[in-house]
Amino acid sequence: MVRITRLDSKSPPTLFLEIAKLHKDQLKVGLFAELNERQLAKFYHQISAMPHLASLFVCIDEKENICGFASATLNIKSLYSEYIKKWWFFLIEIFLTFIIQPKFYRRIFSVGKYLHAGPNIGNSINAEILSFVVSPSRHRNGIGKKMFDEIRKYFSLNHVSNFKVTTSHTQISAQYFYCKMGGKCLGNIDLGSLTSSIYEFENHTAQYDTQIL
Ligand SMILES: CC(C)(COP(=O)(O)OP(=O)(O)OC[C@H]1O[C@@H](n2cnc3c(N)ncnc32)[C@H](O)[C@@H]1OP(=O)(O)O)[C@@H](O)C(=O)NCCC(=O)NCCS
Repeated sequence: MVRITRLDSKSPPTLFLEIAKLHKDQLKVGLFAELNERQLAKFYHQISAMPHLASLFVCIDEKENICGFASATLNIKSLYSEYIKKWWFFLIEIFLTFIIQPKFYRRIFSVGKYLHAGPNIGNSINAEILSFVVSPSRHRNGIGKKMFDEIRKYFSLNHVSNFKVTTSHTQISAQYFYCKMGGKCLGNIDLGSLTSSIYEFENHTAQYDTQIL
């Protein structure tokens, strides 16, 4: 039996580290794949400290281990602009770490392009799933669906009628999964050297009663 919990900035630091490990192991693409575990843990902690714009969920098993996590935002552009204002010193730290890597600039450029992409590929949809991972040993046990339902509830509570997710073509299981969850593929976009698909979801109404750990 697993349970899904929403983290906040006072949740135990070890949970953010576990999330960072899972992210590093499972999400090998995107700008965040370049960060180390400490930086990722810090990023997820920062996200959890912005509850008016974002949420971080974890799935915890019988032995109190994390078997999945998901993060989502109500408004991607507001999140980016508030994040930059609030955590600019952390961004400078990251920038200095990667200043000599050309691929980092390419990724920054493609994220900027993604944020300003045309309306045909979901630019008018503000709410977005930022990351979504289930521990490999627990795949195909319905954990992804359970976390996805929780995200839907979160969006429903916040009166979000549609939301999106971007997933790389290398994330094959995610492509199947998002289609199964009712996602409609809006089109493809090049992020760095990778092609990614943007899926849109119509939202349902539901009760939201996730506990905060
Ligand atoms: C995508 C992911 C989150 C799915 O999690 P999961 O817990 O295995 O998903 P579920 O068991 O809830 O699957 C629900 C349905 O999605 C579909 N599905 C999930 N994984 C699939 C796969 N590898 N192949 C085909 N269909 C798949 C199936 O229809 C499945 O229902 P079924 O098992 O009854 O047939 C997981 O594979 C994962 O973490 N992948 C790596 C990280 C990643 O790519 N994340 C997405 C980043 S945007």
